[in-house]
Amino acid sequence: MTDPTISNVSSRRVWDSRGNPTVEVEVLLADGAVGRAIAPAGASRGTREAIDLRDGGPALAGMNVSQAVSNVEKLIAPVILGLDANNQLEVDKALIQLDGTDYKSRLGGNATVAVSMAVLHAAAASAGKPLWRHLADVNQQTPTLPLPEIQIFGGGAHAGRRVDVQDFMVMVPGADSFDDVMEVTSEIYRAAGSIMRQKGHSVGVADEGGWWPVFDSNEEALETLVQAIQATGETPGDRVVISLDIAASEFGSKGRYRLALEDRELGSDEMIRLLGRWIDDYPIASIEDPLSEDDPEGVIAFTQEYGNRVQVIGDDYLVTSASLVNQAADEGACNAVLIKVNQSGTISESLDCLSTARTRGYRAVVSARSGESEDVTISHLAVGLNAGQLKVGSFTRSERMAKWNECLRIGDQLSADAFVKGSPLAGTWWARQQVR
Ligand code: PGA
Ligand code: ZN
Repeated sequence: MTDPTISNVSSRRVWDSRGNPTVEVEVLLADGAVGRAIAPAGASRGTREAIDLRDGGPALAGMNVSQAVSNVEKLIAPVILGLDANNQLEVDKALIQLDGTDYKSRLGGNATVAVSMAVLHAAAASAGKPLWRHLADVNQQTPTLPLPEIQIFGGGAHAGRRVDVQDFMVMVPGADSFDDVMEVTSEIYRAAGSIMRQKGHSVGVADEGGWWPVFDSNEEALETLVQAIQATGETPGDRVVISLDIAASEFGSKGRYRLALEDRELGSDEMIRLLGRWIDDYPIASIEDPLSEDDPEGVIAFTQEYGNRVQVIGDDYLVTSASLVNQAADEGACNAVLIKVNQSGTISESLDCLSTARTRGYRAVVSARSGESEDVTISHLAVGLNAGQLKVGSFTRSERMAKWNECLRIGDQLSADAFVKGSPLAGTWWARQQVR
């Protein structure tokens, strides 16, 4: 007999991929089903995302989470005990109400997201289904394997700001299967490593596992990425394309962009022209946060100019918020949204953002954070919600590989045509080139 009543909620401090403390939550249901989840943590954060509640003080660089862990057991548990885990919306509304702030600063977005995800896992366990299938059934979606965006070079806040651009990534929209994407990416990652070694620049990896960016310019990183793709026998722009996360809020503010590596400052228009040159010169099919979150005119102008050639993703700009996606759609800013569950702080708000994106014709990319763990919830979200794309960092280190490997396991349960292939890039130059 299934009884999805929440009967116990417990929390503990665990450690993430940067060695920082984070929040783990376990939810037990009356029928014995258990759900467990770990909160991820960002480094390049939008100002409008849910707050990670940290203790401050001298210990652990102020990063301790004892308050957030205690909030789960002392404040949240009493409110959600007795609720039906199948009613995710009711649980999440209870969290939002109890918190009562705009950005979950009372309970901590790290506390609420871990609880919300653990409840979701428990509901799936109670239904006797893997999470991806539970999500697909509840949300009436056809499960699909997402098209990955995979980092080859790290940068920005994830690499001591060694280069300005945060992620130099590849996508393989021309691959025939998810497994094919893994193989092609593995070859490119390895080729990039060989090139870095030949140059004497192989000095380790950045926060998300991409090669540490020992480059003299952002363009040199792009050139090296093209070389790495070619070294595997692929023609750049054919099966494989480049994707960038500029994360411009990290070095830009109010229409001024400080490129530290090149020691120059650009205005919004100049920044747009620079990105435009990169789009002309390199096989770039996707750009995330091209301008800073406080430069809506710039984001709108960039989208107007290049949105019919490349995917324009809002991360810091849209912070997994349904209302910001609606506003962006009204204004013509971006044509895709990054979905990070801890930006919104609950599963329901993330689902709301995803369905709003769908309604408004925006693509969706489910994404990890730079601080991650063995938690693979996002792989299930991407598949079960038919999101289309998945971004989890690079192709090394197990907090990243766990997510890719989970997709492979799920894929074995799906039919051979469950891989979305190039379709998420419909409307870009890459897709138009395919029909020619
Ligand atoms: P973050 O980086 O997790 O440090 O915010 C990821 C991203 O910007 O996409
Ligand atoms: Zn980003």
